[in-house]
Amino acid sequence: MQVLTTIADFQKARCQLRGTLGLVPTMGYLHEGHLTLMRRAKAGNDTVAASIFVNPTQFGPSEDFSAYPRDMERDLALLSAAGTDLVFAPPVEDMYPLGFEAWVDVGKVSQPLEGARRPGHFRGVATVVAKLFNIVRPDKAYFGQKDGQQVAVVKRMVADLNMGIDIVVVPTVRAPDGLALSSRNVYLTPEQRSAAPVIYKALCQAQKLWEEGERSGERLRQEVRGILEREPLVEEVDYVSVADAASLQEVGTIQQPVMVSVAVRMGKTRLIDNVLLG
Ligand code: PAJ
Repeated sequence: MQVLTTIADFQKARCQLRGTLGLVPTMGYLHEGHLTLMRRAKAGNDTVAASIFVNPTQFGPSEDFSAYPRDMERDLALLSAAGTDLVFAPPVEDMYPLGFEAWVDVGKVSQPLEGARRPGHFRGVATVVAKLFNIVRPDKAYFGQKDGQQVAVVKRMVADLNMGIDIVVVPTVRAPDGLALSSRNVYLTPEQRSAAPVIYKALCQAQKLWEEGERSGERLRQEVRGILEREPLVEEVDYVSVADAASLQEVGTIQQPVMVSVAVRMGKTRLIDNVLLG
């Protein structure tokens, strides 16, 4: 496995490659969710690359950029064991040199939900993903359904800017009790960790009602919110959304594929999750 820590070195290594290249963009502190993306990429390409870059521009001023968990040594061991060919891990100054001015703004799909609570978040995500695509030049790039709005934003960007990269979406990887794996789960106290599966239980209840024929978006929102609010360790239900899976506009009567998504706060930790219906 080659580890490249500058854009120039990565581009030199890229020139040597033949066949298809799959990219898994990450912010490191890898878990089984990331490694599942890696395995999918490995199965679908001649060569696979992972990027590890904690992207400062997608964190708000009051968010956890400097505290975001990092463990490069462990990440490299995991990536090597998963059969990764190339790792791109640049420093912030290489990605955002003095005078950096060009941003990617993906419009409406980046405005609701996470976009409304985290101003500038998706501008940072879209910009860094566009930069990674330009540097790495992958044929396919792998993203987790866990970050459902990120998937919608990246797909819109790739289509609108004719990037010609195949976006492969991988289902959310969960702990046996249903909690979606996330680098931020390490912030949970043992009590909060035991209560956190309520998030997936609430989403499964929405799925069950939908399977039984319920088509009212509002009814599903109420059900999910009710289940979350009955858990005392869920201190705040930030949003419960039933939205068109591509545009993320809220839906009254469900007649299309929708994403049911939630964000909750448990102590200092904000957790997000979603399920797709239809
Ligand atoms: P990060 O949070 O490190 O996630 C990297 C990728 O792993 C994302 O596509 C995310 O959706 C996926 N992922 C995380 N947890 C998952 C799970 N439980 N199951 C399946 N996939 C999961 O998302 C980012 O980094 C950044 O925003 C990035 C795209 C790298 C841009 O900076």
